[in-house]
Amino acid sequence: MWTTKTRSISTLLGQCSRCRYVSTASRPRIEARLPLHTQLRRISTPASSPYQILDQTYKRDTYSNTPPAILSKIDRRLLHHPSHPLSILRNIIESHFSTHTSLTPSSPIVSVWQNFDELGFPPDHPGRSLTDSYYLNKEYMLRTHTSAHEVETYRKGLDRWLISADVYRRDEIDASHYPVFHQMEGTQVWPSSDITEIKELNAKLQKELESCPLIIEDETTISSTNPYQPTHDPELAEEVTKHLKHSLNSLIYRLFGSQQMEGEPLRVRWIEAFFPFTSPSYEVEVWWNGEWLELLGCGVVQQKTLDQAGMSYLRSLSRPSSLPYSDKKQCQRLMPDQSHKAGWAFGLGLERIAMVLFNIPDIRLFWSNDKRFLNQFKSGEITKFQPYSKYPPCYKDMSFWVPPISSDTAGEKGKVFHENDYCEIVREVAGDLVENVTLVRFPLFVDSSLPLYPQYC
Ligand code: PHE
Repeated sequence: MWTTKTRSISTLLGQCSRCRYVSTASRPRIEARLPLHTQLRRISTPASSPYQILDQTYKRDTYSNTPPAILSKIDRRLLHHPSHPLSILRNIIESHFSTHTSLTPSSPIVSVWQNFDELGFPPDHPGRSLTDSYYLNKEYMLRTHTSAHEVETYRKGLDRWLISADVYRRDEIDASHYPVFHQMEGTQVWPSSDITEIKELNAKLQKELESCPLIIEDETTISSTNPYQPTHDPELAEEVTKHLKHSLNSLIYRLFGSQQMEGEPLRVRWIEAFFPFTSPSYEVEVWWNGEWLELLGCGVVQQKTLDQAGMSYLRSLSRPSSLPYSDKKQCQRLMPDQSHKAGWAFGLGLERIAMVLFNIPDIRLFWSNDKRFLNQFKSGEITKFQPYSKYPPCYKDMSFWVPPISSDTAGEKGKVFHENDYCEIVREVAGDLVENVTLVRFPLFVDSSLPLYPQYC
């Protein structure tokens, strides 16, 4: 997640969070003109020919840093394989938000404007760096988060939707990081006139949550560092924030509640955060295997995001002087009588959650084409991953003969052929690469005058 908070980040199986942009000052930023980066880029990709991706051509320039190995992931479309764990999880989340429209944008290529500027990312945000993101050229890049589609989706006039998609970030190499992963973005927006309806919904959701074995730790406050937006009626902002919290607590309970140890309540923690396109903003964590696991980022959508999409218009506030953190002048500039909308949004990483729910120990497994992985899972079901060798399957049938039992050795059959002798030969030839030697057939009725033909695989 792109936040600016500085507290330490919870880990899963030793993984560090996606919130790696902890502060703009702490990470070295490599500009397009720096020689080291340019040299590295030249080693990995021919710099001249334009990119041809999904029937589009993108000219290269000094920003182009997307290698073929990353581009080759675009057509894997893991979220479209119904029995893939990521797709199973996506479907569960979609069924939880059953009245939302589910969308899957066809191309991961977005403009830099969509990915950053439109959402209010400052020009020096570290996420923009060539060390962190994949660029096709100065103008186009592989989306780094599903929020890149927020404005265009609001522009379609949809006010409750989910977007699931692959996102791309340059990253370290280990079992919990991969340069391509999947996010799900969700949002719900209301006209301010619906405030009574939101209140009723909130009361209902709160009641439902109270009946669940769930401990919600939420010490967040509305303050000058995490304010309601100056153009929002605080009463509406409060109800929208409540609805955001209830909706996500209920989703988290749906996902993790059934996986809890008998009698143990699920613990969920809300933390203040910062995203350029939401305020107030939060991160949510779940207590899992003895540590806090960061799940998602969320908040009340910045009004200017909705405005850019032509979704809403700011209305004149009747009580500007009573508003905390409001800018009176700004309020007075607002246009009266325009219909006003406000809403929340969240973004979550599917791999992080799927690794926990399906017990998948390595993020790279999601990309496996190995049937031993793919055939383990069934659409609609969360089942635990059964480990298998990290080596590709390579079956060798071995059959051979051993001398017939002679009158000298008859009665001492063990001396004629012992499996350990065979295993010794296998070990000598292939060392520890061979994981299993299994006898598949041994003649049952042995004519002592004929050779034996044991078969192994
Ligand atoms: N896009 C943010 C990220 O990837 C998550 C987010 C989505 C936060 C929507 C707030 C609202 O870190």
